[in-house]
Amino acid sequence: MTKIKVLVNGAKGKMGAETVKAVKKDNDLILVGQTDMGDDLAKAIKQTKAEVVVDFTHPSVALKNARTILESKVHAVVGTTGLTPKDLEEIKKLCIKNKVNCLVAPNFAIGAVLMMKFAREASHYMPEVEIIELHHDQKADSPSGTAIKTAEMILADRKNIKRAQIKPVEKLKNARGAELGGINIHSVRLQGFIAHQEVIFGGLGQTLKIRHDSISRESFMPGVILAIKRIKSLKGLVYGLDNLL
Ligand SMILES: NC(=O)c1ccc[n+]([C@@H]2O[C@H](COP(=O)([O-])OP(=O)(O)OC[C@H]3O[C@@H](n4cnc5c(N)ncnc54)[C@H](O)[C@@H]3O)[C@@H](O)[C@H]2O)c1
Repeated sequence: MTKIKVLVNGAKGKMGAETVKAVKKDNDLILVGQTDMGDDLAKAIKQTKAEVVVDFTHPSVALKNARTILESKVHAVVGTTGLTPKDLEEIKKLCIKNKVNCLVAPNFAIGAVLMMKFAREASHYMPEVEIIELHHDQKADSPSGTAIKTAEMILADRKNIKRAQIKPVEKLKNARGAELGGINIHSVRLQGFIAHQEVIFGGLGQTLKIRHDSISRESFMPGVILAIKRIKSLKGLVYGLDNLL
């Protein structure tokens, strides 16, 4: 079997460096390129003849990089967070136009994918829910892509989240966090964390917590490697690793 040629963009970053290590270790993959800030990504793709580009860069350049990869007619595995529904629409069109595929996954950790799935299931029975996500203090965007995706998955099944009927008095602005479709999302940014999330359900006389902790960045690598290996067989844009499992 010929090895899949992989280029990692954002290779000097925390996730990029971990991906470089994981690709090098895998017998079915060959690392043909590493790019970072200041490099010409389009040129590197051409020179290395990469078949798949993995992007772990910065929310402010996630769409720009996706455009460059897809316009180069190469498949993209995007782990960079911060893409909006409008951005995803554009990526979808770019995939069709260039006849390539793109997987956008806010979280590549299997445990996080299961947390989202179980949260969706639990919300059928316990509709009152809030999300607390906790990340390292270098994370640029908030709330996390995982928190947004979790809320979206719950909302896909439940249009109206039932909330306690009390008029809030916020003594400090945003004390109740951000809100997506009636789901409050709280973001904690502190040294010591990597990526963690708790989905808390409230019911009469009880609470249920579904929690996931990435305690090392290795946790994301089986998902990233799976995405690289499966990307050719996908169809256009796929949003979320859950679609591959
Ligand atoms: N999907 C997931 O499972 C997952 C997991 C962890 C982090 N993330 C996301 O991945 C992204 C990167 O996270 P990180 O912790 O590795 O950040 P980081 O700051 O450690 O690394 C980012 C790297 O990207 C480089 N970069 C910035 N702009 C660039 C550009 N225009 N072109 C090429 N390289 C560029 C930086 O120089 C840096 O080396 C963030 O959006 C983060 O939220 C996703």
